[in-house]
Amino acid sequence: MKKIEWKFSMNLNLKLALIVVGLLSLWGCSTTKPVDQKPDFGKGNKIFNGYCAECHLNADNEAPQLDESDDWDVRKPQWGGVWKDHVKSGFLSMPAKGGHSELTEQDINDALYFMEVKIRSLP
Ligand code: HEC
Repeated sequence: MKKIEWKFSMNLNLKLALIVVGLLSLWGCSTTKPVDQKPDFGKGNKIFNGYCAECHLNADNEAPQLDESDDWDVRKPQWGGVWKDHVKSGFLSMPAKGGHSELTEQDINDALYFMEVKIRSLP
C-alpha cells in the first residue's frame, strides 16, 4: 500500500514540475520575443511624405503613384510581407528603403500601413 502512495505522489510531483516548466517557458517566450508594434497611421503619413512621396506622389517619377488606383492593381496581391521585403531591400528601380537607410523597420511598417489604407480607399 505504501508503495502505491509513493508512486502516486511521485507522479503528482512530476506533473507539477511539468506544469511549472511549461509556465516558465511560456513566460520566457512572452518576455524575450520582440513585441511587434502596431503600425501607426499618423507616423506613416509623415514618413511617407518625408521619404516616399518624392517618388510615389510625383508624376514625373516612374514609381507607382499613391493616388492612382491602376498603378497598384497588379501589385495588390503582394500587400504585406512581399512589399515589406521589397521596400527593405530594394526592388527593381526602387532603392532599399527608398534610399533612406536611416529609416527603421517600424518606420517602414508605418509607411506601408499608411499606403495600404490610402490605396484601399481609392475609387
Ligand atoms: C527613389 C524613388 C523611390 C522612393 C524614394 C521610394 N520608392 Fe517605392 N518604388 C519606387 C519604384 C520605382 C517602384 C516600382 C518598382 C518596380 O516595380 O520597378 C516602387 C515600388 C514600391 C512598392 C511596391 C513594391 C512591389 O512589390 O510592387 C511599395 C510598397 C513601395 N514602393 C513603398 C515605398 C515606401 C514605403 C517608400 C518610403 C520609405 C518608398 N517606396 C520610397 C521608387 C521609390
